Amino acid sequence: MNVLLTGGAGYIGSHVIRALTAGGHECVAYDNLGNGHAEAVGEAKLIVADLADGDALRAALKENAIDAVVHLAAFIEAGESVEKPDKYFHNNTIIGLTLLDAMRDCGVKTMVFSSTAAVYGRPERVPIIEDDRLDPINPYGASKLCVEFMLRAYATAYGMEFVALRYFNVAGASADGTIGEDHSPETHLVPLVLQVARGRRKDIKIFGCDYDTPDGTCIRDYIHVSDLADAHVLAIHAATAGGVKVYNLGNGEGFSVRQVIETCRAVTGCDIPVEDAPRRAGDPPRLVASSEKAMKQLGWQPRFPKLETIVEHAWRWHRTHPNGYA
Ligand code: UFG
Repeated sequence: MNVLLTGGAGYIGSHVIRALTAGGHECVAYDNLGNGHAEAVGEAKLIVADLADGDALRAALKENAIDAVVHLAAFIEAGESVEKPDKYFHNNTIIGLTLLDAMRDCGVKTMVFSSTAAVYGRPERVPIIEDDRLDPINPYGASKLCVEFMLRAYATAYGMEFVALRYFNVAGASADGTIGEDHSPETHLVPLVLQVARGRRKDIKIFGCDYDTPDGTCIRDYIHVSDLADAHVLAIHAATAGGVKVYNLGNGEGFSVRQVIETCRAVTGCDIPVEDAPRRAGDPPRLVASSEKAMKQLGWQPRFPKLETIVEHAWRWHRTHPNGYA
């Protein structure tokens, strides 16, 4: 299939391009390079344009005879979304609608949508299954949930077909160390802890030590970016069966912030000083996925489920690319 990836030059997008290309698909990255990197797309075609530009989008869909879209472009920081909800609803929700309309107008009916664990808010139980209550506690999660609702409406009204993948905490880098995470500024836990290990920052701040969890810090389910990418290949095929399907993607095991830091110490052999800091707005205490549905229905099987491996691959990328793609 000819697949257009919005945000294709980003961290997750670049890994999805690898996986789709290996699966025999032709990829076109559509990215404004606001956060992405041209080097990350490899041999794939890159269109540098904005998603808000409906004409450019329609041209990209038509001229490349696109069969399916993987929609990854988004702002992704839960904490920031509490301060700047306008940014999140404009970019993630309203531009999501622009994309859906462009697809409908161009006769492209298939999309894999990058959704998030943040749609669950504070879950009543873990591991979380897809039918559990959707009640986001930050505008980021709400902005993505709005798009999930749009997908249902567009599937019903226009016969479009979708898979929404609810990502838990994505980390790691390609096993060959050639593509990885390069955000500026970086806000995610694993790369920040590894920056401390590399002497790029003096300590890691732990946002909240008084949560109702065994060590008082937030618990997350970390998934290797290449495993996440593999799921997109399966999801494109599943989407073409019609309707809307939703899948969680995680490893089913929760690690606290302190446990992640401890794992980074073990992998890097470096001392990693910490500083206890106040809670970050919009952070749920505990997010752990059940990915049984993705395993059963998509046949998804993570290749790198261990947190140590995820951190090892991230560490290899950061050591060999101390300035990211620069
Ligand atoms: N954290 C710290 N110190 C830091 C950075 C993070 O203590 O310097 C903590 C956070 O408070 C949180 C945990 O580490 O408890 C993980 O934080 P991240 O910023 O790495 O990730 P989030 O859980 O906030 O969000 C990520 C993605 C979202 C996705 C979500 C799903 O950014 O897009 O995972 O769980 F929705």
